[in-house]
Amino acid sequence: MSPFGGWGTLAAFLALLCCRGSGEEQFEVPMEPNHLLVGSGEFQVINFTASCTDPKKLVLETALHKTFLEGQAQWKLFKVISISKNMELMCSFICGGKEEMKVFNITVFYPPKQVLLTLSHTSVAVGTLFTIECRVPAVAPLEGLTVTLLRGTEILYNQTFVGTARFPQDVMVTHHTTADREDSLHNFSCEAWMDLRSRGGGLVHRVSDPQRLEVKARSGAGGGQVITQCRPLGTG
Ligand SMILES: *[C@@H]1O[C@H](CO)[C@@H](O)[C@H](O)[C@H]1NC(C)=O
Ligand SMILES: *[C@@H]1O[C@H](CO)[C@@H](O)[C@H](O)[C@H]1NC(C)=O
Ligand SMILES: *[C@@H]1O[C@H](CO)[C@@H](O)[C@H](O)[C@H]1NC(C)=O
Ligand SMILES: *[C@@H]1O[C@H](CO)[C@@H](O)[C@H](O)[C@H]1NC(C)=O
Repeated sequence: MSPFGGWGTLAAFLALLCCRGSGEEQFEVPMEPNHLLVGSGEFQVINFTASCTDPKKLVLETALHKTFLEGQAQWKLFKVISISKNMELMCSFICGGKEEMKVFNITVFYPPKQVLLTLSHTSVAVGTLFTIECRVPAVAPLEGLTVTLLRGTEILYNQTFVGTARFPQDVMVTHHTTADREDSLHNFSCEAWMDLRSRGGGLVHRVSDPQRLEVKARSGAGGGQVITQCRPLGTG
């Protein structure tokens, strides 16, 4: 609760105000929490709307840098910048002589900014084990993140993550496979999707640079085997 400076005092004051001599019923202050997902370091425009048509003292309480954009009697639009950690933004106003508040719960997320694909080899013989590795640095929350390894448009491997940790973490997906001739006909790539739509956010999509694998025929007996496996390719 520390980030809100004087808010604790105000909350205490509100508690006093609401409960003094009026019984439990009065505690029905309309406080519908609104959840917002904001990319780390980004800004957010927030529309604070009072529950009555002629509120007094519509005030946004925050230690963050805020700019008032526009407003009318019932609402005010603020831009809050450089949001770097999860927090609650609170707005207070007076309706019919009663102080009320609205809370916006802000969750900072770290979308995938880079998707780094590494193949263990640049050139291998048919049948050789090789490793495809994809790293997505500094992402959070992991929940909602899917990393997909592709050969051309074919999905080789798909991993959906879980975890609600707020701090950014590196994510690594590793897939071992054996080289076949078709591998040299396509690019390998890695895609990261961060789908925060179920939590009120958006869908972020990033793709790695493509990587090629050169696949050489095995010398000797192995080579013969490979030739027997050759078949017309779909597009041919
Ligand atoms: C805001 O989110 C935190 C963490 O998820 C939660 O503990 C808190 O109750 C939420 N506050 C509101 C007003 O929804
Ligand atoms: C802010 O919200 C109020 C109430 O929903 C709405 O009437 C008003 O148009 C909104 N203002 C902006 C700029 O979106
Ligand atoms: C990969 O994951 C995405 C997102 O969860 C899903 O839509 C897709 O069907 C998955 N594909 C495969 C081949 O598992
Ligand atoms: C593979 O990627 C390279 C570099 O982006 C591109 O020039 C090439 O056309 C791609 N090949 C295929 C088969 O998609």
